[in-house]
Amino acid sequence: MPALVLLGAQWGDEGKGKATDLLGGSVDYVVRYQGGNNAGHTVVVGDQTYALHLLPSGILSPGCVPVIGNGVVVDPSVLLSELSGLNARGIDTSKLLISGNAHLITPYHETLDKVTERFLGKRKIGTTGRGIGPTYADKINRVGIRVQDLFDESILLQKVEAALDFKNQVMAKLYNRRAIAPEQVVEELLGYADQLRGYVADTTLLLNNAVDDGKVVLFEGGQGTLLDVDHGTYPFVTSSNPTAGGACTGSGVGPTKISRVIGILKAYTTRVGAGPFPTELLDADGEALRRIGGERGVTTGRDRRCGWFDAVIARYATRVNGLTDFFLTKLDVLTGWERIPVCVAYEVDGKRVEELPYSQTDFHHAKPVYEYLPGWTEDITKAKSFDDLPKNAQAYVKALEEMSGARISAIGVGPGRDETIQIHSFL
Ligand code: GDP
Ligand code: IMO
Ligand code: MG
Repeated sequence: MPALVLLGAQWGDEGKGKATDLLGGSVDYVVRYQGGNNAGHTVVVGDQTYALHLLPSGILSPGCVPVIGNGVVVDPSVLLSELSGLNARGIDTSKLLISGNAHLITPYHETLDKVTERFLGKRKIGTTGRGIGPTYADKINRVGIRVQDLFDESILLQKVEAALDFKNQVMAKLYNRRAIAPEQVVEELLGYADQLRGYVADTTLLLNNAVDDGKVVLFEGGQGTLLDVDHGTYPFVTSSNPTAGGACTGSGVGPTKISRVIGILKAYTTRVGAGPFPTELLDADGEALRRIGGERGVTTGRDRRCGWFDAVIARYATRVNGLTDFFLTKLDVLTGWERIPVCVAYEVDGKRVEELPYSQTDFHHAKPVYEYLPGWTEDITKAKSFDDLPKNAQAYVKALEEMSGARISAIGVGPGRDETIQIHSFL
């Protein structure tokens, strides 16, 4: 039985939440493997809209066990408020499992994220300010606090002291902020311990057993391929690996057990925060995509930068993730354009290049080479099969498939659960 990875093929916000939720009904476990509450996934079920940040989107499907893997960074206060928000709306969250090895975002990580951005000035990354980068930095520096530390008070104090030793010097001397008392942090963290204890489990063991027992396990990426710390547009990236390999390290399930990797791909492109974006539109078309697509961040409320579809990026996502399938989302947003530009290659310093430049300098200079595909005006939101789509919309999808290097197995024609055309099964 399959273990699937579902991830963003662009810069995030491709519609991963909807895609995960759609599969949720036929999946036994949905696992978040990286990132934290920097993510913002919108799921529309009937007349209800849910905005999820830290919890896997599978939490909305009864029968599906949601798992927060070891690769995720967990802000306990955000987690508990997200859980109580869902409970208040009648969603059962009791099946949630959290890895004891996941790292905790503490208030000092959030503070450091914000002061660092301020310090960077115009070189800032445009982070979500949720403490993601500093928490992963502590993990790699081996001064992080893990979920399991909540259950050993003396270890917790030792670790928080070690983590703050250096940071307090930096805070006071560089950022002119008051030092943070370790005891105060420990007291706050201990306040979460009892509320979280029941969810903590050996998720690696459980997930491997689940795959071996023939259960369907879905790994849900936060962010997208180009925000990956290794394969994205560094330094304008998040501090973890949303790419497919991250599903293995972030969950403890090995690559031989993954049967499918599905890339969620928007029919155009968006990005939040700073960094290069070759097909970005700063004109009326960009404004129209933002308005029609509702392109406003779920987490920070920032307007998303918008541009045309970029096939170079889609091909790159296929390569670095080993994608087997694409889920093409938001095709409906493109209805009404007479012709739709699609970036098929770049021009870098006068030369045409077909692949994403590995040099960041070249990528910053990359100019899109466009092909123009004929548009359509018919409403496609009621389409249930590929044949229901107007001929030009069919041709647009086929052209994207041809350029992107993996088959398009599903198409989103609206935000709702049922506004999807399934061409090939994911299972
Ligand atoms: P995620 O971060 O990848 O889960 O995506 P977001 O939730 O941040 O952004 C995607 C937005 O597009 C959400 O508002 C979804 O409800 C919406 N959406 C998803 N698929 C479609 C689609 O096929 N058509 C339209 N119009 N909206 C969609
Ligand atoms: P989902 O899961 C879009 C961006 C931020 C910033 C960079 C680093 O909804 O696709 P961070 O706070 O992670 O250190 O910020 O990454 N970013 C996202 N952009 N969607 C997201 O999540 C994002 N999570 C982080 O805007 O540019
Ligand atoms: Mg999002």
